Amino acid sequence: MPSHLKRVESDGDWAAYHAIRKRVLWDDRGLGGYDERHPDDRLAGNHPLLLMHDGAPVGTARLDVVDQHLGIVRLVAIEAGLQRHGLGRTLMRQVETYARGLGLDRLDVNAASDAEGFYQKLGWSTVRADRENPLMTKALSDGDIAS
Ligand SMILES: CC(C)(COP(=O)(O)OP(=O)(O)OC[C@H]1O[C@@H](n2cnc3c(N)ncnc32)[C@H](O)[C@@H]1OP(=O)(O)O)[C@@H](O)C(=O)NCCC(=O)NCCS
Repeated sequence: MPSHLKRVESDGDWAAYHAIRKRVLWDDRGLGGYDERHPDDRLAGNHPLLLMHDGAPVGTARLDVVDQHLGIVRLVAIEAGLQRHGLGRTLMRQVETYARGLGLDRLDVNAASDAEGFYQKLGWSTVRADRENPLMTKALSDGDIAS
């Protein structure tokens, strides 16, 4: 599949990253207040990422490095009209590869409750179910990419 993950760098990348996140994670959920200038997106150690498919931006994630072992994946989104076609799986595989490249060996996510099944399919486990966004985790080892 002609897909690749890129670090958000250019003005065009930032515009696409914010547009996808705002549409999928705020507007489509009836939420307001999306902040394109949120400082966390520019923090050293936080990696804003775009999934490109057929040359177009189709998905986002941010990988926040917590320490030398652990990263937290945040704000995972695939464009609404393109969901359930395998792009989320592709995005997360590539985020895992990117995280391994940083030397990380575990990823966490505070999953949207209706996305828990998605992460389970990709080999993540729920470690704290007693919260609105269940805490899920996945160990990364060489070659351990969910099918
Ligand atoms: C969750 C999301 C990223 C998944 O991406 P996607 O492209 O739709 O997922 P895929 O098509 O790659 O699905 C991979 C597998 O997970 C399953 N799946 C996808 N979304 C699911 C969900 N919400 N619940 C349960 N299973 C799900 C698919 O059926 C597929 O399983 P299969 O291989 O057995 O057929 C995407 O639907 C999305 O952006 N949703 C809205 C925002 C959101 O909830 N983000 C997560 C925030 S933590």
